[in-house]
Amino acid sequence: MNVESVVPENGTPDYGASDNGAIIETQDLTREFKTVTAVDGLTLQIRPGEIFGLLGPDGAGKTTTIRLLAAIMDPTRGWARVAGYDTVEASEPIKQRIGYMAQRFNLYGDLSVWENLNFFADVFEVRGEERKERIERLMVFSRLGEFRHRRAAHLSGGMQKKLALACTLIHTPEIIFLDEPTTGVDPVSRREFWDILTELHLRGITLVVSTPYMDEAERCSRVGLIYQGQMVVCDTPEAVKAMTEGELIALWPSDVRRGQVILDELDGVLEVQIYGDQLRVFCQDGDGLMEQMRSVLAAEGIEVKDMRQARPRMEEAFISLIRRRMSEGDKS
Ligand SMILES: Nc1ncnc2c1ncn2[C@@H]1O[C@H](COP(=O)(O)OP(=O)(O)O)[C@@H](O)[C@H]1O
Ligand SMILES: [Mg+2]
Repeated sequence: MNVESVVPENGTPDYGASDNGAIIETQDLTREFKTVTAVDGLTLQIRPGEIFGLLGPDGAGKTTTIRLLAAIMDPTRGWARVAGYDTVEASEPIKQRIGYMAQRFNLYGDLSVWENLNFFADVFEVRGEERKERIERLMVFSRLGEFRHRRAAHLSGGMQKKLALACTLIHTPEIIFLDEPTTGVDPVSRREFWDILTELHLRGITLVVSTPYMDEAERCSRVGLIYQGQMVVCDTPEAVKAMTEGELIALWPSDVRRGQVILDELDGVLEVQIYGDQLRVFCQDGDGLMEQMRSVLAAEGIEVKDMRQARPRMEEAFISLIRRRMSEGDKS
């Protein structure tokens, strides 16, 4: 059995999309607290069936954004529409259509996997045969079948997240908001969790997922990078990576620290980052520079084991976009 049986077969019936085709739309969405502007003038459109990644470091405004979209919190300025409903005027119909998995989702530790699912079925008034079937399907879908009698408190971190997701899906929402569902989860479980999200995506569910892990952006149809409450960039992962300035060369010198200092001085080099035993050099023109790098390093007695052109990673693209943003801020 697979996700097919968890969500409707034709996953896009009544999405309440607005005229421009967006299922989630915000305009100048802003939330201020006493001393901070947690979300600052966010204008965004998400189409039905997208898997949208909300990326940003701690304190960037991810949780506040998701709470605003989930109609749990009201904006201090601007508006958001979800499935065609205004989040302030019509929070009830929104809550019926969405699933919201909070950063610290409240599972009941003393209850078993099966009992937790039943509890959330009660909350969402899922009853009778439908409830029994749905719980069985969700248990298989979330790969928790064999742990049905285990107390939630005794599940691993990764399994708790999967149970939380299953509970979030109990009322077959069209849109799900997941706030850092993979934070603190081991890499294997993270991957498995994303496989499950991808299955939901393939069934047409709209997903908005926040994460501090830049590599997870690769699994999204589009990503928005939030920094200090503002959207720095919003595009496909490929397009975001293409925004990195210049070309990138990866090399493995015998001494990365000295290598970094030496290459940083070289004309045409924009930036040198260390990744383990590897140097990542952003430069204007890779071709001419490769031989030059080899020879300046050799002159300092540093041997280069390997050198090649590379593709920028999401993390590098984001760091360079945030740097650019900060230096623009300094100028104004
Ligand atoms: N209820 C609140 N009261 C006051 N400040 C808050 C509240 N919630 C969040 N903030 C502040 O807003 C900013 C964004 O927080 P948050 O949305 O939780 O970011 P993230 O989820 O990206 O870590 C932070 O500076 C945080 O301290
Ligand atoms: Mg958060």
